[in-house]
Amino acid sequence: MLSALTTVVSITPKPTRRVVLDPFKISYTCDKQRQAVAELVDEFSITPSALVTIKDHFIHELKKGLAKDGETLAMVPVFVSGRLDGSESGSFLTLDIGGTFLRVVFVVLTNGQVTKQQKKYSIDEDLKVGETKVLFVDEHAIKVPAGSEIDLGFTFSFPVLQTTINSGTLIAWTKGFSCPGGVGKDPAALLQDALHKQNMHVRVVSLLNDTVGTLLAHAYQYKNTVIGLGLGTGSNAAYIETVDRITKRKGSMEFATGIKEMVINMEFGAFDKEKIILPLTMFDNKVDRKSLNQGNQIFEKMIAGMYLGEITRNILVNLIDRRLLLDGRSTKEICKVWAFDTSYMSTIEADETPDLDDTRFVLESYLGFASSDPMATLTSTSTSVATSSSSSFTDRQIIKIIVGLVGKRAARLSAMAVAGILEHTQGVGWTEDDGADIGVDGSLFRFYPGFEDDMKEAIEDIFTFEKSCTIDISKIQMRPRLDGSSVGAALCALLAGKTAAVPSSSE
Ligand code: GLC
Repeated sequence: MLSALTTVVSITPKPTRRVVLDPFKISYTCDKQRQAVAELVDEFSITPSALVTIKDHFIHELKKGLAKDGETLAMVPVFVSGRLDGSESGSFLTLDIGGTFLRVVFVVLTNGQVTKQQKKYSIDEDLKVGETKVLFVDEHAIKVPAGSEIDLGFTFSFPVLQTTINSGTLIAWTKGFSCPGGVGKDPAALLQDALHKQNMHVRVVSLLNDTVGTLLAHAYQYKNTVIGLGLGTGSNAAYIETVDRITKRKGSMEFATGIKEMVINMEFGAFDKEKIILPLTMFDNKVDRKSLNQGNQIFEKMIAGMYLGEITRNILVNLIDRRLLLDGRSTKEICKVWAFDTSYMSTIEADETPDLDDTRFVLESYLGFASSDPMATLTSTSTSVATSSSSSFTDRQIIKIIVGLVGKRAARLSAMAVAGILEHTQGVGWTEDDGADIGVDGSLFRFYPGFEDDMKEAIEDIFTFEKSCTIDISKIQMRPRLDGSSVGAALCALLAGKTAAVPSSSE
């Protein structure tokens, strides 16, 4: 069920450049086509003023989540407090379940130095919707030397209502997972059970969200870290909050210990579940309807890697059906839900060939718009299925423009959330004298051409347009942080220390 992929630490390729086409400068085949693209440009572009309005609502929701449980933004206090100073040391095992991969890493921290041994497995689609217990039983991935006992930091990247640093309750599955028997259970206890059953001497001492791991790993290196951001298959952030402002926990025992700060897992993917502020299009609504968690994670579905390809596919199919693209021809592949992988968008965004050959390659190799495959003609049964001649140059230009619109909107909305957190924490969690560091994990930030630049531009747009709050963006450093689920989880295990009780049985 888990297929081994690699045992080495991954290397990050630099994101390629985004090459933008001006939608008003290409030659269209007819006015209707020009009009259709102009409408899309209008629908998908978000002005600075609109970003500020959305950001204000985001802050409003954030505050509601700090005041009361059960609000749209869960704003989960995660029982990790205090800042790191880089001197933390120890050996830990970490396990990460959260999206496309499962990772097991043995981490040794020595005064800011890190060594790791990693194993990475892909998680089958079957496993994502199969019995929860099965997902947790596959810990044969973990190898512990006989006779030894080791502490484990467990990164579980789903909405969990944390009750202690190593226990919590799964609120809902997200990102295409839907394992029966999981919601309402304690993931740490499930894992501990599975480990016990296999006679492994491993104590699950911490349970953390991936964004918390990103925050901690970044803080190990940069002491002014305020935010850990995840922009990959799903989207979310954790940040450092002052305990006084977590009013929903006022008076609770754990908060009466005099600690001043605590990390909050926002679960911001759930933002605007009510659909009142985000500029949702019919294409977003279609994505939502086809998803396993319909009506939830509305914001995430506009910005996360799992969904961007599907939004794009919906737009392309709509134009094809209106005979405004690819001569109205469709293929088996383009008609298939989720078949347009977000990585195709990266290829198309970066395409700088004069004839858009890379875009043609995606159309031909992955989407069935083959120009010279005689077998396709022979095996085709439907007349509406593309069999000959591929795309025109105008088709490819329009596709590139559409991909750019979807990608840029995602980057600008992601930036809106960052701006909201920065504004909320300014002067409390960070000051302009020290600046604020942000660690970012996730494939979009790492691989999607121009994503980071578009985010920076949007943050600048917001704080230039916003009159009531000025933030000097030169004081904000957003950097990639890839070791949240290893170093971050190890640090979380270390912070949990020997005080954490071994989770009780899940039964
Ligand atoms: C989803 C999960 C959240 C996680 C994010 C990024 O939004 O609900 O817990 O942090 O994806 O992986």
